[in-house]
Amino acid sequence: MISDAQKDKIIQFAKKHVAENDPYHGMEHLEETARLAVELSKSEGADAEICWVAAMLHDIRKGKSGDHGTEGAIEAKKFLLEIDMDEGFAEKVKDAIHFHNKGFNGGPVERQVLWDADKLQLMNLEGFKKRMIPYWIHKLGETEGIRKSIYEYYFYKERFHTETAKREAEKNTEEMEEYFRVLRERINER
Ligand SMILES: [Fe+2]
Ligand SMILES: [Fe+2]
Repeated sequence: MISDAQKDKIIQFAKKHVAENDPYHGMEHLEETARLAVELSKSEGADAEICWVAAMLHDIRKGKSGDHGTEGAIEAKKFLLEIDMDEGFAEKVKDAIHFHNKGFNGGPVERQVLWDADKLQLMNLEGFKKRMIPYWIHKLGETEGIRKSIYEYYFYKERFHTETAKREAEKNTEEMEEYFRVLRERINER
């Protein structure tokens, strides 16, 4: 069990560490990931507290040197032990964060839930327009950014681990594909 004081420390730690992240990987993204992770944990039989903590801490090393999953996992575990979370709990959080930016099959359900919660928010029109498109246009410019965003959508959509996320992602296929037609026209015009 996490106490309210520990919860508070986790939120403050997350805030401090993502303060310099790009606007698509700040507190809003962590909170949305945490909300989805807790929701998925219910239908998937995962531990909701592990999922919540892993989601709140998963991008603390985004934009820093090294692999942000690997480095963030190590740093998150160290921090959790410092605030007296138990070793087993901290290890499960570490595992989920380590794998959130990597490919894997199976594994602990909390690992699957974090990966899915992190990407599921991009699988609908609102999330795609708000986070996927601007992130990649900012990185690659208009034409390449749009191409990459569409590519990433399908890349993630084929890789969800939990049945709940697979079902959720599938729901919006039609409107997403309609929007991709508009986007493709936009870049082919140039
Ligand atoms: Fe990440
Ligand atoms: Fe993320």
